[in-house]
Amino acid sequence: MLAAYAAAVDPDDPLAGLRVGERPEPAVPDGWVAVTVRAASLNHHDVWSLRGVGLSAGKLPMILGCDAAGLDPDGNEVIVHALVGDPDWRGDETLDPARTLLSERYPGTFAQLVAVPRRNLVPKPASLSFEEAACLPTAWLTAYRMLFVKSGLRPGQTVLVQGAAGGVASAAIALARAGGLRVWATSREERKRAFALAQGAHEAFEPGARLPDRVDTVIETVGEATWEHSIRALRPGGRIVVAGATSGPQPAAQLAHVFFRQLEVVGSTMGTREELTSLVRMLETTGVRPPIDRAVALADAAEAFAAMIAGDVLGKLVLRP
Ligand SMILES: NC(=O)c1ccc[n+]([C@@H]2O[C@H](COP(=O)([O-])OP(=O)(O)OC[C@H]3O[C@@H](n4cnc5c(N)ncnc54)[C@H](OP(=O)(O)O)[C@@H]3O)[C@@H](O)[C@H]2O)c1
Repeated sequence: MLAAYAAAVDPDDPLAGLRVGERPEPAVPDGWVAVTVRAASLNHHDVWSLRGVGLSAGKLPMILGCDAAGLDPDGNEVIVHALVGDPDWRGDETLDPARTLLSERYPGTFAQLVAVPRRNLVPKPASLSFEEAACLPTAWLTAYRMLFVKSGLRPGQTVLVQGAAGGVASAAIALARAGGLRVWATSREERKRAFALAQGAHEAFEPGARLPDRVDTVIETVGEATWEHSIRALRPGGRIVVAGATSGPQPAAQLAHVFFRQLEVVGSTMGTREELTSLVRMLETTGVRPPIDRAVALADAAEAFAAMIAGDVLGKLVLRP
């Protein structure tokens, strides 16, 4: 089958190890199913994998991709939850120490077929296209959990979303607006700030800008480049919910601000299958849809990867096997 996979990893030149070509169909153990992939979406995780973050040379070659929507063996339209854990784990799957994302230990979704545990399938409503549905399992689910599980935000409060054009950030803007929050966003480029407004932000600012007021919560996935601003932007007792560090993982701790203004820093990772089901329902009831920058053939995966590495993306990039 055709697949986009990592043949090598290179911290400085992630595209060098990307290949698109024939790979064997995945093994389907007991309790797993093979899903025919109709659409898969790109996440920064896939770039990290090609840089060797979370993907060691011993696991190569590895089919990339966490997110997919497609058809189960009975022809049902499904969305694939990307977290694979211990089948005996009970409770919040994101806390399972054995959890892994598709493309880390098991072959990923950038292929004509992906094998997953049957319990990872969530029904896809007809009102979502395969392309839209394929955006949900990582970026949109992460944003949903950050906002509605981890932030403690109530409707009417103010959230700042850093790095507005990214997959998680653009999801956070749209979901926060639909959830009744006042939404402010930052982005490095004017066209991306305009995109943030179109996604539902009430105001969009340059990175580091002085804001009209302090915010209740910051949604952080950028890391070093925005961390100091995130700390300064919070009201006393406010909270940063952090799920990523695209620009670098070692921000100044700003500890004096953290204790003196009693700030909270809360980590968040992916989301549960139940939260994915709730996210799908939220999109159905609100009409909110993931913005798709472009959808390209799986054979053209390198084009999508190059756009993500260059930061030349508004929202999500989708691959069609
Ligand atoms: N913990 C989890 O479960 C989880 C889940 C999903 C993602 N993540 C992480 O969250 C991060 C975002 O993921 P994504 O898929 O949304 O990525 P993405 O679509 O590539 O977006 C990255 C965004 O970072 C922003 N950014 C701002 N300043 C930057 C700088 N100096 N250098 C690079 N980027 C900068 C950019 O926003 P502007 O261009 O608008 O400024 C860009 O749009 C990644 O690091 C990813 O690994 C974690």
